[in-house]
Parts: sequence; structure tokens; C-alpha cells
Amino acid sequence: MNEPLLEVENLTIQFRVKTKLLQGGQSTDKWKRVLNSISISINEGETFGIVGETGSGKTTLARALVGIHKPKNCTIKINGKKIDSRKRDDLLLLRRKIGIVFQDPVGSLNPRLTVSDIILEGLPTDKKLSNEEREGKVKEVAKYVELPESKLESYPPELSGGEKQRVSLARTIIGGKKILILDEPTSSLDVSIQAQILNLLIRLKKELSVGYIFITHDLNVIKYMCDRVAVLYYGEILEQNTAFELFEHPKHPYSEDLIGANFSLSGTNLSTTGHESGEPSKEGCVYKNSCPKRFVACDEDPPILNLGKGQVKCWLYDERYKSVSTKKNTI
Ligand SMILES: Nc1ncnc2c1ncn2[C@@H]1O[C@H](COP(=O)(O)OP(=O)(O)O)[C@@H](O)[C@H]1O
Ligand code: SF4
Ligand SMILES: [Mg+2]
Repeated sequence: MNEPLLEVENLTIQFRVKTKLLQGGQSTDKWKRVLNSISISINEGETFGIVGETGSGKTTLARALVGIHKPKNCTIKINGKKIDSRKRDDLLLLRRKIGIVFQDPVGSLNPRLTVSDIILEGLPTDKKLSNEEREGKVKEVAKYVELPESKLESYPPELSGGEKQRVSLARTIIGGKKILILDEPTSSLDVSIQAQILNLLIRLKKELSVGYIFITHDLNVIKYMCDRVAVLYYGEILEQNTAFELFEHPKHPYSEDLIGANFSLSGTNLSTTGHESGEPSKEGCVYKNSCPKRFVACDEDPPILNLGKGQVKCWLYDERYKSVSTKKNTI
């Protein structure tokens, strides 16, 4: 069997944040953990979705995967080769293989550069090409992303939202990357344009044999685009499964709440079951404060349990507590 395109094991990210103790008092540094022991793997030609609400750590994960944040004690492998993102050569390899398209094309495109120059930013710096070759490559990728040649000498402020996102994509694919991280690539676009970009992404994946990590808070987009999905909640993956299984038979109580539309990921509580969305728990299971099925074991942090092709981080699937999971409400 082929090695996965990308394997990530035990990725934890914490940020140092300043807090002021008392009014006028001295500020102290505290650590805020944003991602906790994330493990995922992506195969060639696969679209792996990461779904989670705002603040769950999606962008931080994307940034860590391209080496912007450098986690300690984490294993990242590309086609089986171990990467140490603190080593320059490894970091270069990581950046050559993995590209990112951000949610906000406005902020990620330099307004003073032409579209052509922006796309060329995506070529590896050690790639020595003549001006004609560079121009040829720009035209080739513009065609891939269906951006008219007439736009290549325009500046970003002259482009529509969809065109800007096509430029971002062209910049990401020009260097021959094998994994594209798409961080909410359509959420700033009108619905009709969203569909165009999603269909373009589906076509590009086939033509370029790349893998996608598709990050979004939109479950419909996940359903349309993804082969497998990880459900992220306050920095923890609570369930990983095929998109089909997740939508048809969600296992984790949080996934059940999402799929059953008890909560929407845009922050509105649509609960019809009478329980309220609460803050993440700092002790035991992170979903404990909101979970209608919590029981005595949930005061301890649950392990990640394998279930066929999927994984779930919930005590209800531990052999010892199987009988609890058959009862409806267990509080
Ligand atoms: N550089 C940083 N320093 C401190 N906290 C950060 C930093 N970057 C992100 N965060 C915090 O990490 C959490 C996750 O943020 P983010 O990854 O942007 O979430 P998402 O993309 O899912 O909305 C948020 O609480 C955010 O405030
Ligand atoms: S471990 Fe307990 S609190 Fe957490 S999701 Fe499972 S049942 Fe709910
Ligand atoms: Mg984000």
C-alpha cells in the first residue's frame, strides 16, 4: 500500500498570552492550549475535511501544517519522510509540498502587485526559469483555474471575490504542490460563486492528483466535498470518519448535535433537545458541559477509540461503558 501523502501525529499548539493580574498590576505570561494532540492522515487524491466552529483551532492547524507554527514533539511525515519543521531543509520541503489558500483573498493578495506577479510568488525560489518560461507557467495555471488571460496584468482591487480566490489558487498550484490546505476558501464569497469555486476545486483535484485538507464550518460544503472528516471542538478531534458515516451514523454526541442541527456552527444554538451549548470543560471530557449523555466516567479525559475506519473520543464507546450508551439520557 502507498504511504499516506501526509501523516500528522500528536500535534499540540499552545500560545503564550499576557494576562494582567490586578488593575495596574504586573502582567504575567500564561500558556493557552489551542490544539491538543491532533493526529490525522491524508491519502493521495483524497479530500479530508476539518469541520469546527469559530475558534476551534482550524486556522491554527492549517498554519502549523505549513510550518508557520512549529509544534514540539509532533511527527509530520510527507510520503513517509519524517519532517522536522525546525530544520531549514525540512521546512523548505514542507513548504514545497503543502500550500495554503486562505479564507480572505483580499488580505492574502498584495494590492500593489499584478496578478501575474502574485501567481509567480508561488514558484519555489530555487527554480531558475527564463522570463518566457515563467510567463508560460502563469498562463498555464491561469487556464487551470479558469482565470482569463486578460486579468493577468490587473491588480487585486480590480478583481471580483471569485477571481481573487482563483488567483490565490493559481499561486498555490504553480509550484507543483501535492497537498492543498483550503481554509474556508469559499466562505467570503456569494453563494453562486461558492458553487463555481467548489466545482473548480473538484476538477483540479482530479487533474493535478493532489490531496486537499478542506477546512470549513459549513456542513453542506463538507458533505459535498469530502471523503473523510475530522470534527474539531476547542482544539480536540472528537470524531474522525468517512463523510458518509459521519452524516448517516454520527457517533460522538457533539457530531450528533451538529448533524441533528441541535447546534449550528455559526454560533446559534438551535437546540430542540432542551440542552444548552456551554463552555468547553477544562477537566475530563472537553464536551462535558454541553453533553446530554455525560455520566460519571466523563470526569476523566476519554481516550481516542478506534471504530472500524473511524475514531471517536468518548467514553460511551469504551467496552466497559457499552451498557450506558444504550440508555438515552444518562446525566
Ligand atoms: N497567535 C495567537 N496567540 C494567541 N491565541 C491565538 C493565536 N492564534 C489563534 N489564537 C486563538 O486560538 C483559538 C483558535 O483560533 P483559530 O485557529 O483562528 O480558530 P478557527 O480558525 O477555528 O476560527 C482562538 O481562541 C484564537 O483566539
Ligand atoms: S465522554 Fe461523556 S461527556 Fe464526553 S462526549 Fe462522551 S458521553 Fe459526553
Ligand atoms: Mg479560521
